[in-house]
Amino acid sequence: MVKEIVVVGSGLAGSMVAHFLQETCHVTVICKGGKANSNSMLAQGGIAVALREDDTFQSHLKNTLEAGSFYNDRKNTALLVKTGPKVIKELISQGLTFDQDETGHLAYGLEGAHDIPRILHAKGDQTGQVVTEFSQSRLDKVDWIEHAQVIDLLVNELGQCTGVTYLDQRNQLQQINGDKIILATGGVGGLFPLSSNDLTVTGVGIALAKRNQVEVKDLEFVQFHPTLLTKNGKCYGLVSEAVRGAGAVLVDETGRLIMKDRHVRQDLAPRDVISRILSQELEQGHDIYLDISKVENFEKKFPQITANLFKQGIPFQTTNKIPVRPGAHFIMGGILTDSYGQTSMPNLYAVGEVACTGVHGANRLASNSLLECLVFATRVSEHILQASQSVSIAKNERLVKKQPEKFHLPNKELLQDRAWQAIGIERKRTDLIDFLHWLSGYHYTYIPTDLTKQEAELADLCCVAEEIARAALARPISIGAHFIKGE
Ligand code: SIN
Repeated sequence: MVKEIVVVGSGLAGSMVAHFLQETCHVTVICKGGKANSNSMLAQGGIAVALREDDTFQSHLKNTLEAGSFYNDRKNTALLVKTGPKVIKELISQGLTFDQDETGHLAYGLEGAHDIPRILHAKGDQTGQVVTEFSQSRLDKVDWIEHAQVIDLLVNELGQCTGVTYLDQRNQLQQINGDKIILATGGVGGLFPLSSNDLTVTGVGIALAKRNQVEVKDLEFVQFHPTLLTKNGKCYGLVSEAVRGAGAVLVDETGRLIMKDRHVRQDLAPRDVISRILSQELEQGHDIYLDISKVENFEKKFPQITANLFKQGIPFQTTNKIPVRPGAHFIMGGILTDSYGQTSMPNLYAVGEVACTGVHGANRLASNSLLECLVFATRVSEHILQASQSVSIAKNERLVKKQPEKFHLPNKELLQDRAWQAIGIERKRTDLIDFLHWLSGYHYTYIPTDLTKQEAELADLCCVAEEIARAALARPISIGAHFIKGE
């Protein structure tokens, strides 16, 4: 019998799983926006992989562990960096192209906390888009359900996941059943006022897990990328770390080198270190810029960033400066999985940013996220293909059995501002307690049947905010991206 597979999420992880399974299974991909709405599509820097002759997976492993504050799951991290070269070579042999140097060899960029340039990139700073579109272009046997907001998991009487319910394009509640359900929904960027994430990325996977007692882990580790393009306090996308890898430096309004003498790697220190320093600079009233005067061929190397700078009217050609601030970028924690993406709920898998495999430790190394999508999508697919048993699909009316309860939800902007304050770059115990107390004045736990997409999204954000705050409170000691400033 052909297995029914439901993939939630259209980014690189979801697309790759769909690609691997489409020949032998019937695959449906559900996504909240259109196919192109995902963090994968926005990834600029590239894919970190130890492919150069003078590089080794041991060196990549060392840098990943160092950036992760050695909190990483060693086995899965070794798996990531060891399997990476094989997966990338396969994709290249299938027609995926990365940028080359003038001698016709693969060109490698440098990013923070790497000892060696090992970042493959495509069309300069458009790596995520190139790789995700390549993956999606091969999905010719897959059914798509776009603009669908997943509301809940369907779970049978044996505790196995049997599908999801969702609000379709016309806001009608629907359900879809599957033998295997794969959550590839990305992270939690929408929880914060400044974020590099696609607007559709609002923590749904983690919220679904929490609502259904699926185990989550390490949610206190939220990565804030040091350089989001900002204008008048608003964020207009990412300025890749590859720009610093190419020679840009962080300066204040007087031209002072912010990272000088602050870390041995200076502007290429791990993200958590730089974001904290920048946050303190902002608190002291400084403005922050990326000085790109030493970057050769900036516009050619970074065409997407250049186009964005023109769009936002930033006079970088005359000033050589790009105004930046740190903002939410990635969550290292997520739904706990084993090395095959299996969650604590039978038949439910998680892959990509929404999963917590432990490979990123307490702070992700630059350009390891697309690699994670590729390596673990392969593992999830292999596992599903090998699994002989398929569950009998029981139509599950669980959603209507839930006690309908009227939501009482906060204003989204207020939630984002309070989240920034309490669970942002620097945290205080008293702020965490206040934040949880504030959240407890709202109702977002149960899903009524007559909710709108906006309500569902806000409920997810509240749920995720609560879980991050609880996790942060439970870890009184700073490590990696989780920084406790004091009481
Ligand atoms: C970047 O280009 O700076 C982001 C890449 C990543 O998140 O690893």
